[in-house]
Amino acid sequence: MSTLQTHVPVNAPSRAKRRDLFSRLAKDFMGLDRHDPVITMDGALASKRRVYLDTTATALMPRLIADSLNDYYTHACANSHTDAHRAGRDTTAAIEYSRDAIGRLLGYDPTRDVVLFTANGATGATNFLARALFPPELRAIVKRFPKGVPPEFRRMLRESLGAAMQTALDELEARPLIVTTIMEHHSNLLPWIEAVGKHNVRVVGVNGADGTLDMDAFDRIMASEGSRVRLVAVTGVSNVTGIVNPVRRMAKVAHQCGAQILVDAAQWIPHAKVDLHQADASEDIDFVTLSGHKLYAPGSRGALIGNMATFDCNRCISDVGGGMVEYVAIDDYDVKKQVTAREEAGTPNIPGTIAMGLIAEMLDRVGMDVVAEAEEQLTAKLMERLLQIDGVKVYGATDIGRVHRAGVVSFNVLGYEHGLVAAYLNDVHNIAVRDGCFCAHPYVKQLMRFGHEEEKCFRAQMVQGDRRNIPGMVRASLGVYSTADDVAVLGDALESFKKDADRIASRYSVHMDGTYRLKEMPPLPCTFDVKDLVANWEKGGERIAH
Ligand code: ALA
Repeated sequence: MSTLQTHVPVNAPSRAKRRDLFSRLAKDFMGLDRHDPVITMDGALASKRRVYLDTTATALMPRLIADSLNDYYTHACANSHTDAHRAGRDTTAAIEYSRDAIGRLLGYDPTRDVVLFTANGATGATNFLARALFPPELRAIVKRFPKGVPPEFRRMLRESLGAAMQTALDELEARPLIVTTIMEHHSNLLPWIEAVGKHNVRVVGVNGADGTLDMDAFDRIMASEGSRVRLVAVTGVSNVTGIVNPVRRMAKVAHQCGAQILVDAAQWIPHAKVDLHQADASEDIDFVTLSGHKLYAPGSRGALIGNMATFDCNRCISDVGGGMVEYVAIDDYDVKKQVTAREEAGTPNIPGTIAMGLIAEMLDRVGMDVVAEAEEQLTAKLMERLLQIDGVKVYGATDIGRVHRAGVVSFNVLGYEHGLVAAYLNDVHNIAVRDGCFCAHPYVKQLMRFGHEEEKCFRAQMVQGDRRNIPGMVRASLGVYSTADDVAVLGDALESFKKDADRIASRYSVHMDGTYRLKEMPPLPCTFDVKDLVANWEKGGERIAH
């Protein structure tokens, strides 16, 4: 059985029924059933069906979510901290429903695990966990004394700290290390460097061009330094290659060393069944982070799901302010005991939270085994089509029977800039892809095999704001709404680029920000413009129809 198809819920409706549900969900997405203006290479305007292959950056939204939010704003629309009226109470209930739905999608145990909503996507969730494990008040000390805090200073410091912080300092001194990987999105790398300093971060590399994690290196690091490791922080699925990591095996090793494991599941949860708990508890995942907007839920809500005991302290880890206190005196306050109340200060992102709960519930009813099954077939088609095109280089292992990959594939047309290819796909074919380094600079650099001198040169240019020559890739990524026709359209578009590449390149100019724009052509009309909407409203029009 593949790693993407693990769990089928007990008492779930038949697979055939769930496949029907999947088809209904796949057809329910907004923003696809449309044609938009494009430019032909002869400079004329035409119209083409929209093909959205940038799901890894932001996924589209099912109409049910838009309709449900419309319903919410029509019938309720209130503050979740208001108990005095129905709409306030219903808002709170909707948030708590979402919390539970997300937990259930991940097979949580509500007596042990907590679902915490955080700021922006997985970045917000990871930063929250970093603050919980490594309190900012203590970080400077650990960074200042890489060989250990001098005893005299330590004694003075302990005297000035409360009991909770003393325990945190002891833990931080005993286990200051983070083990992460070169494959990470910046959101699962930078918070750890910030937390413990680069001398306390160990980075697992990859197996050359294969792009898979070097598990021997992981084992070596854990064997030599495991007793000092606080956390293994690894992505479940790469946002560059879609490679699926052996997180169960990593969890087991981490636990054997007394460490915990965080899995960045922003790219894992949308593609496969993720279970926090396993029959063999040593393979459990302690923490998972996710991004609502990558899971078909707009609003970019972040969530951290995991071991409640970690947050069981009488101090506030996140923001202070409204809603998280029992009592406030002018110079003092008592925080709430319940973790979710204490750590979600202020009025939350209500639509983003409701959206995340809705999609979690829908995906749970479809079953992630069915989602993964459909995506695996389409990923195989995408890979096969790209490999057929002469001069297209796909990054990471392409043998998906051997190396499991979710529907995320990065490539280049050799000899042509990634920005040019992405612009051409958009301008001429109405195909949305992303290009660049995808917030994963170290991994992209590794896969593209840049030398140190080359890197220094790119870095200097980028820091000066000149992105014209930055290296990168083109990425096509799939969602539940992606179709075989989308893959075919991309393949044909790349073939036509290849046939006429030099003439196409001559029609474009590159700007300092790295974008490619057609010369002597007016820009394509905006897809969405707030100014237009306001101007139309001012004139008395109801809506703008594109
Ligand atoms: N860094 C996000 C991506 O992978 C936005 O596209």
